[in-house]
Amino acid sequence: MTSFWSIWVIVLTLACLAIIFGLLLWNLKNYTGVKEGESCGHEFDGIEELNNPLPKWWTYMFFATFIWSVYYLAAYPGLGNWEGLGKWTSSNQGITSLAESKEATEQALANGENVQLDQEFIAADERFGPIFESFAKQDIETLVKDEKALEIGQRLFSQNCAQCHGSDARGGQGFPNLTDNDWLYGGTPDKIKETLLYGRVAAMPPWGDALGEQGIKEMTAHVLSLSGRTVNQKDAAAGAAKFAMCAACHGADGKGSVAHNLPFGAPNLTDNIWLYGGSKRAVEETLINGRAGVMPAWKDILGEDKVHLLTAYVYSLSQDK
Ligand code: HEC
Ligand code: HEC
Repeated sequence: MTSFWSIWVIVLTLACLAIIFGLLLWNLKNYTGVKEGESCGHEFDGIEELNNPLPKWWTYMFFATFIWSVYYLAAYPGLGNWEGLGKWTSSNQGITSLAESKEATEQALANGENVQLDQEFIAADERFGPIFESFAKQDIETLVKDEKALEIGQRLFSQNCAQCHGSDARGGQGFPNLTDNDWLYGGTPDKIKETLLYGRVAAMPPWGDALGEQGIKEMTAHVLSLSGRTVNQKDAAAGAAKFAMCAACHGADGKGSVAHNLPFGAPNLTDNIWLYGGSKRAVEETLINGRAGVMPAWKDILGEDKVHLLTAYVYSLSQDK
C-alpha cells in the first residue's frame, strides 16, 4: 500500500486505541459526586441505580487485552506497511514464479529443510531405486517370468494406468484392452515400451463431409461386413469400392496398421474387436466425426526404470493367451 494509506491506517488504529484507553481511565474515576455504593438518585420500575465501580476482574482483563494489542501490533505486520519486529510472514511471499518456487525448494532440500513429502520421496528412491535399477538391467522376457517384478508392475499399473485402462487392463470405450493380443501399435516388448515412454496420439480423420450421408451408410456396411456381420450386400459392395481412401492406414485388407507394419495405430477392422464400439451407430459416429485417442507419455513422469517394469507387466498380460 502507498505510504499515504499506510499512515492513514496507522493513525486511525492508534487514535482508536488511545480513545478506548482514555475512555477506560475516565470510567475508573468517580466523577459523579456521589459516594461509591450509594444511590445516584435514579429509579426505574423499583430498580435503583447505585454508583458502583467497574468490576475489578473486568478492568484487569481490559488492561490485559490492551497490553496484548500493543504487543501484537508492534511484533506482527498489519499496521499499515509496518513489517513487525519479528518480520513474520504467512508464507514465503518473495516467491512469485514457478522458477523461483523450484529454486526455493531445491535450496530447502540442500539445507535439509525439505518438507515431509520430499523426504518420503527421497527415502522411497533410496529404498526402491536400486530395486528398479536391477530390474531395468534384465530383459522383458526374463522379467515376465519374475513374479516379484510383475507384482511391482501391477502396483504401478493400478496407480498410473487403471483410471483409463481399468484395474484389470481390459480397457473400455476409447481405451484399448491390453490383455487381448489385439494391438494398435504393436505388442512386442519394444513397441509397448515405445508406447509407454513417448505416448501415442491417434488420428482417424472425419469422413462425414467427404462421404456424405449415403457414403457413410455404405462404408459402415462394408466395415461391419469385414468382421463377418450381416449387412446390406449392395451397400457393403459400394463401400468396398471406396475403401482405397482408408487403405493408407488400415491396409487394403482392413487388417490395421500393425499387420502392415505402419505407425498410425489404425485398428484391425476385421476381428470384431472394437475400440469405440461395434454397433452400427458407433461405427457411423467414428466415420462421421473421426477419433483421436491420446495415450500420455510416461518417460518424464515415471522414468525409464519404472516404464521397463510396466512394459513387462503389460507384455505379460497377453502372453498366456
Ligand atoms: C489418460 C488415459 C490413459 C492413461 C492414464 C494411460 N493410458 Fe494407455 N492408452 C490410452 C489411450 C486412449 C490409448 C489408445 C490411443 C489410441 O487411441 O491410439 C492407450 C494406449 C495404450 C497402449 C497401446 C495399446 C495398443 O493396442 O497398441 C498401451 C500398451 C498402453 N496404453 C498402456 C498404458 C500403461 C502401461 C499406462 C500406465 C503407465 C497407461 N497406458 C496409461 C489412455 C491412457
Ligand atoms: C490417417 C490414417 C487413417 C485413415 C486414412 C483412416 N483411418 Fe480409420 N482409424 C485410424 C486410426 C489411427 C484409428 C484409431 C483411432 C483412435 O485410436 O482414436 C482409426 C479408427 C477407425 C475405426 C474405429 C475402430 C474401432 O475399433 O472402434 C473405424 C471403424 C475406422 N477407423 C474406419 C475407417 C474407414 C472406413 C476409413 C476410410 C473411410 C478410415 N478408417 C480411414 C486411422 C485412419
